[in-house]
Amino acid sequence: MSDTLTIALSKGRIFQETLPLLAAAGIRPLEDPETSRKLILDTDRPDVKLVIIRATDVPTYVQYGAADLGVAGKDVLMEHGGEGLYEPLDLGIARCRLMTAGRPGVPEPRGRMRVATKFANVARRFYAQQGRQVEIIKLYGSMELAPLVGLADRIVDIVDTGKTLRANGLEPLELIADISSRLVVNRAAMKMKHARVRAILEHMAAATGRAVA
Ligand code: ATP
Ligand code: PRP
Repeated sequence: MSDTLTIALSKGRIFQETLPLLAAAGIRPLEDPETSRKLILDTDRPDVKLVIIRATDVPTYVQYGAADLGVAGKDVLMEHGGEGLYEPLDLGIARCRLMTAGRPGVPEPRGRMRVATKFANVARRFYAQQGRQVEIIKLYGSMELAPLVGLADRIVDIVDTGKTLRANGLEPLELIADISSRLVVNRAAMKMKHARVRAILEHMAAATGRAVA
């Protein structure tokens, strides 16, 4: 296991909202991922690097130890399953809700309902718990379109202000989970790099006003 501590982050809201928390742990990136095309960023700590990846890939990098730490939405962690990861700290950032949605006033079909989503595992579990048989249609984005063009009866997606749903003539229906982003840690790194990981955890926890689990 290398001496470098690698932290996996996605561009956009998670990067922006994690920056001040990393700064509280004494970690500042030397480049901005929004303008740099580099995927590995140095920080002002010679032993700490950031890897910039897709939000949905963060749990995979941390699970396999390609990154020691990462920040991922609870939605992404629920979909991944959390294998090989510790989830010791709720950072309270990138808050939103994971919900079902559909066209207003359109009742559930008599037969098997079709549900379009990029959260296929979460959606399957949610409807199974309710004893509802559904067909999951896996999509990679723009889920809101699916009910409008007859691809699906419902979608499972992230809702924040509800503007995206409204703009597409959809309404939120059932809450699946309240979502925020979590700090995740590779299980082996938690043991082998314990002192440094623990120090980062404690500083980030203090900056968020939360406790480490
Ligand atoms: P990918 O690039 O892997 O498809 P993405 O485009 O969903 O992921 P982001 O939009 O950066 O990535 O979202 C990262 C996380 O932020 C999500 O997993 C979710 O937890 C949260 N999130 C997504 N949309 C919103 C929103 N509108 N408001 C607040 N938080 C959000
Ligand atoms: C997210 C999410 C929803 C939308 C919900 O998309 O995928 O579509 O936000 O937010 P709202 O309820 O406030 O409209 P985002 O705009 O971040 O784009 P992306 O995830 O496709 O990059």
